[in-house]
Amino acid sequence: MPAASTRGGGVDGDGDTLESGGYRRDTSHKPMLSSVSIKITLMLVLVGTTILIFNQSSYPLKFFRNHNSFSGPSCENSNVPSSPAKDENIELEKTLRRAAMKDSKTVIITTLNAAWSEPNSLFDLFLESFRIGDGTAHLLDHVVVGAFDKTAYERCKAAGLHCYAVTTEGVDFSGEAFFMSEDYLKMMWRRIDLLRTVLELGFDFVFTDADVMWLRDPFKKFYQDGDFQIACDHYWANYTDVSNSPNGGFNYVKSSNRTIEFYKFWHNGREYFPGRHDQDVLNMIKDNPFIPRIGLEFRFLDTAHFGGFCEPSKDLDEVITMHANCCIGIPNKMHDLTMLVDDWKRYMAIPPSNRNSTTRSWTVPRICG
Ligand SMILES: *[C@@H]1O[C@H](CO)[C@@H](O)[C@H](O)[C@H]1NC(C)=O
Ligand SMILES: *[C@@H]1O[C@H](CO)[C@@H](O)[C@H](O)[C@H]1NC(C)=O
Ligand SMILES: *[C@@H]1O[C@H](CO)[C@@H](O)[C@H](O)[C@H]1NC(C)=O
Repeated sequence: MPAASTRGGGVDGDGDTLESGGYRRDTSHKPMLSSVSIKITLMLVLVGTTILIFNQSSYPLKFFRNHNSFSGPSCENSNVPSSPAKDENIELEKTLRRAAMKDSKTVIITTLNAAWSEPNSLFDLFLESFRIGDGTAHLLDHVVVGAFDKTAYERCKAAGLHCYAVTTEGVDFSGEAFFMSEDYLKMMWRRIDLLRTVLELGFDFVFTDADVMWLRDPFKKFYQDGDFQIACDHYWANYTDVSNSPNGGFNYVKSSNRTIEFYKFWHNGREYFPGRHDQDVLNMIKDNPFIPRIGLEFRFLDTAHFGGFCEPSKDLDEVITMHANCCIGIPNKMHDLTMLVDDWKRYMAIPPSNRNSTTRSWTVPRICG
């Protein structure tokens, strides 16, 4: 069943990684540790098997058949029995290749479900931000939307973007996944799984939540080195200090063995810290010795440029992105992001020479923050 190993995303046979990763730092209790790891291994095998079984279901194929745009090259292989997971990766690779920048390997990825893609909702603000941003419109050509359901997929197509159907068996992601509900967690973890696959396919990416407003081109501000660069809810320290509070809603990751290993390690944390979302787990593993051991270096992005409602950038001359973080619920996010977009338009309408400290400040957050 080679299909499972390309798909399971760190769930398949990862006893080793867990051990060497050493989530548990106290290794003096060997007997307890090994009984724990046996339990974990059993659990992982179970989860892996479940995923394998679900993989056989026809949902992805049904989905793909509904969209003519996905037909074509797959006919060439019609006499070769292929697995849904493999087909999915082929589709993903094709989509990424179409969307890539001039370097042929960098894409911008967001994920979307029906609730976030309703007309006049977050997805529209996301798209608008690129259009009203300072030199960001061209970046829309490189955005890949991972659509969690059919509605989101159709909205993506209608917007003329590159779209990819992210399938997850037995889960309907179309409603608003309430913060920390079971579906919310599944969606968040499926995203980490998807991003690992993107790295494995050799693509570098900027992952962005759809409630991040793109106001300037971030590529001019990313660090030259560092495999894994991430925005922060709070930026307390310097750009290498793991005591910063990273936010998984915006990050820039370069494909390498180190980052692929890291994404597997991160995803394994889902089983190790049940009921936690990817960001909690990131905070729990960010200072784990596993990370220096694989040679991965974090770079934390300063909120002065990559801000959010937790810690807004202070100067509109400096802002690059603004994230509706520290804000729960679509109506709240919409309220403050709409104000933010108005602030930005007002700012952009004033000639640079006439801007002053007032016109360079936000009126947000109001409800959020
Ligand atoms: C950044 O913070 C870390 C941890 O506090 C410290 O070891 C390092 O020297 C600092 N680096 C710079 C460039 O200040
Ligand atoms: C990653 O690992 C594979 C196999 O271990 C190796 O062949 C390849 O050269 C490595 N790639 C990089 C970029 O280090
Ligand atoms: C800043 O500029 C705005 C619009 O140009 C103006 O109305 C406002 O009085 C100025 N504020 C200060 C503190 O100069």
